Amino acid sequence: MVKIYVPIDSTALSLGAARTAKAVASEAQARGIDIQLVRNGSRGLFWLEPLVEVELPQGRVAFGPVQPKDVASLFDADFINAQSESAQAHPLYLGLTEELAWLKKQQRLTFARVGITDPLSLDDYLAHDGYLGLKNALALSGADIVKAVTDSGLRGRGGAAFPTGIKWNTVLNAPAEQKYVVCNADEGDSGTYSDRMIMEDDPFVLIEGMTIAGIAVGATQGYIYLRSEYPHALNTLNEAIRRATVAGYLGENILGSGKAFHLEVRRAAGAYVCGEETSLLESLEGKRGLVRFKPPLPAIEGLFGKPTVVNNVISLATVPIILHKGAQFYADYGMGRSRGTLPIQLAGNLKQTGLVELAFGATLRELLYDYGGGSASGRPIRAVQVGGPLGAYLPQEQFDTPLDYEEFGKIWAVLGHGGIVAFDDSADMAKMARYAFEFCAVESCGKCTPCRIGSTRGVEVMDKIVAGKNHPQNVQLLRDLSDTMLNGSLCALGGMTPYPVLSALNHFPEDFGLSNKEAAA
Ligand SMILES: Cc1cc2nc3c(=O)[nH]c(=O)nc-3n(C[C@H](O)[C@H](O)[C@H](O)COP(=O)(O)O)c2cc1C
Ligand code: SF4
Repeated sequence: MVKIYVPIDSTALSLGAARTAKAVASEAQARGIDIQLVRNGSRGLFWLEPLVEVELPQGRVAFGPVQPKDVASLFDADFINAQSESAQAHPLYLGLTEELAWLKKQQRLTFARVGITDPLSLDDYLAHDGYLGLKNALALSGADIVKAVTDSGLRGRGGAAFPTGIKWNTVLNAPAEQKYVVCNADEGDSGTYSDRMIMEDDPFVLIEGMTIAGIAVGATQGYIYLRSEYPHALNTLNEAIRRATVAGYLGENILGSGKAFHLEVRRAAGAYVCGEETSLLESLEGKRGLVRFKPPLPAIEGLFGKPTVVNNVISLATVPIILHKGAQFYADYGMGRSRGTLPIQLAGNLKQTGLVELAFGATLRELLYDYGGGSASGRPIRAVQVGGPLGAYLPQEQFDTPLDYEEFGKIWAVLGHGGIVAFDDSADMAKMARYAFEFCAVESCGKCTPCRIGSTRGVEVMDKIVAGKNHPQNVQLLRDLSDTMLNGSLCALGGMTPYPVLSALNHFPEDFGLSNKEAAA
């Protein structure tokens, strides 16, 4: 019986995958053809979704984008025998999936199974190296697990790039009867979706990573703080947790080891600031999402005042492959102090958007043109924003910067969660700078003055500059205000709002009605 894959990921669903799957099933039935329909995750080539694959002995063959109206013609072309001449002549025929240029050049470590397996099949997970990391971890002491994570060079993928092993070590060494592992799945950054893809398309890898974290630091309870706008991820995670528990991979006695780890999902409150780890903990405790003062660090006094590991989805989902293949295997990828791979999310004005996992070191230009195929509008790409709404706007002259935390730091930019949003030359960068202040004003938790007041004053001063009012004084005011927010804010929401503002001002002064000299004032 031939296996046909139609993704069940949100992206594919939003492009009609549910109707495509239904059409494939009913067309097969009407023609008396026996098929096994598998609902897999997305391969991450969004412009080709719904991407339908047919499994052949030599590999899977892809067709896309397949709408319900295309299904009859695919059957007419004998697409289930994808080697046939008629199938290959079909306009939606793409060839062997693994040979598609977009996928072939990637180094998929964290995303190794995404798009390949049935997300909720534990058997499929196990057949694709699932739970080998946990099995190795169960044979190690907590300190040795932490050492492996430290040696791998893994740094937090949520934005701050803090070394994961060092954070875990603090929790390991903090004496307490109860400790927690909290997964930050709030994924609020613009143009980002890698967390969602992991949770919808390979949920067991996150569950495995959190279980390893719990065993490493001595935490018996984990929570996934999930972005409220992710209904599919919520259902998938809950079902995967149920299945993992039934099979003995979660619970009181994991795989007979005597070690316990329980896991629950909590729906987030829908505020951007609740992605900030201390605000997240407040929200998880049932309070308003106000940022806490640090110290104490969450690793010492976190959830309910107990030592807590707070990590991003991608950080945690990367731990299984490190424990399976070894710290060195992972550390062999990357450049400088940025070890391993980064799941990059291409978004905005690009022909081809989607998920690209590459070792650190690839350049923005490669991503925008080789993968992204240039702008969707056909106009020149003028700017990209990397790292979410608080990331800097980079002009063309900086497109050769390699994706590396330190290299980005040198050009006063951040990699953040790896989201890249492209803008063509019709974008008004002064409007984008104003929007950064507006966003900060709306999302501010209000605890500190530079952010609470500064964001609103920022909108006002931007309006004056754009209206051409008293340029020298207002540009100076904008720079002073940015300096105060940068250095005086309690968290990175207020502290990073100057990144999009000042990068737009410095690189695109003409949009502010300023010459280079006036902008530098
Ligand atoms: C305003 C704000 C929003 C944030 N949103 C997220 C988020 O949605 N997801 C995330 O993982 N980290 C987010 N962070 C970073 C977290 O505070 C924290 O650094 C991260 O969860 C730690 O995990 P990691 O070390 O694995 O990256 C945010 C930070 C700030 C200041
Ligand atoms: S910077 Fe903004 S969001 Fe962060 S603590 Fe201050 S007021 Fe709250």
